[in-house]
Amino acid sequence: MKLWGGRFQKEENKLMEDFNSSLPFDKRLYKQDITGSITHVTMLAKSQILTHEERDKIIEGLESILKDIEEGNLKIEGNYEDIHSFVESNLIQRIGELGKKLHTSRSRNDQVAVDMKLFAKENGNIIVSMLKELNQTISTIADENKAIMPGYTHLQRAQVVTFKQHMMAYCSMFERDKKRLLNCLDILDESPLGCCALAGTTYDIDRAFTAEKLGFKKPVDNFMDGVSDRDYLIEMLSAFSIIMMHLSRLSEELIIWSTQEFRFVQIDDAYATGSSIMPQKKNPDAAELIRGKTGRVYGALMGMLTTMKGIPLAYNKDMQEDKQQYFDALDTVTACLAIMNEMLKTIKVNKEVMKEAVKAGFLNATEVADYLVNKGVAFRDAHKIVGEIVLLCESKKLAIEDLTLSDLKTVDDRFENDIYDFIDYENVLNKGIKKELL
Ligand code: ARG
Repeated sequence: MKLWGGRFQKEENKLMEDFNSSLPFDKRLYKQDITGSITHVTMLAKSQILTHEERDKIIEGLESILKDIEEGNLKIEGNYEDIHSFVESNLIQRIGELGKKLHTSRSRNDQVAVDMKLFAKENGNIIVSMLKELNQTISTIADENKAIMPGYTHLQRAQVVTFKQHMMAYCSMFERDKKRLLNCLDILDESPLGCCALAGTTYDIDRAFTAEKLGFKKPVDNFMDGVSDRDYLIEMLSAFSIIMMHLSRLSEELIIWSTQEFRFVQIDDAYATGSSIMPQKKNPDAAELIRGKTGRVYGALMGMLTTMKGIPLAYNKDMQEDKQQYFDALDTVTACLAIMNEMLKTIKVNKEVMKEAVKAGFLNATEVADYLVNKGVAFRDAHKIVGEIVLLCESKKLAIEDLTLSDLKTVDDRFENDIYDFIDYENVLNKGIKKELL
């Protein structure tokens, strides 16, 4: 059954019907659609547009549809244009002619807009709590694995840091991601229900009532904007893309750290896979998939930006393209956050290997320079002196702390015995603001 057709003299072409139908994907909005309709009908009765009996019958019908869908007794399928047509047709089948009054002073334009916003709010909040959970896991493994490790710049060993400091950097990133999402959720929190097609309605409906009932801060200010705003989805997709970028960076580290070359961590067998030919292989597929799926979420963001860029006011069918892109990105971020959380919970940190890597990388060279600065040498001169010491170490295949005092004095005679204590890796972390790394 179609929601339109009065002015048409020909049947819709089958190809066109399939091309136009959004039911296969917008069926995900059934709950929001029914909730929106119940609220709309409640308002219609309150505004004396429907009687209380009519309201009660329609609500009863809508609730029975919801119940049947949730209990698996009503499958969302068939020859319907979209979820809105599906629900309305079902309502008419159940309660008869009265069902046709549901759509009084409403358009599918404001209906789909409110459905999608309700959906985005609910799921946005789920992503926020997943980010909280991930940060909890990261903090726990950071606290449970007190270890020093090389910190890198240019992926070259740079200075000694702690595993905790390294991991907590990701907590800071995910904390910002959370704020970004909460900010999107705050900006989108205005109800488009009641804008109707684009120009409101001749009925004195109560938009403030439906907005409040549905949990929005207020109704939108402008009807035409209300039905054609998809900024909030673009913002959510942008926040999702940034989350994926962060997850991908973390994945990349886990992939590198779990190589034979690094051996800093071991990914649990439960989150790795093997090779069909090389019996020894254990591959970090979960992390690689997260890294790979990042492109897909960026794609949704670019897709939506491009879909929206040439659309005149107000509603245009192009906007139906928001759903698949948004749903796919949402599902991807959800799955990636879940797997990252579980993978991290079970990761094994090889503290000894990390410590060995610290020793092998001249990671106290900067502190040797600080030592000389304490003796009155200008930092730039100290930098040069330590450079010569590193060359000496490389020729002798020794770490700086393994050089004898007389070796050190051949380069600069201001070195004394206290240098060894000063540049000890653990001691270094107890000096100045480096204490914050612990
Ligand atoms: N399936 C449509 C969408 O997702 C619903 C709105 C249809 N409105 C219309 N005027 N045809 O955008």
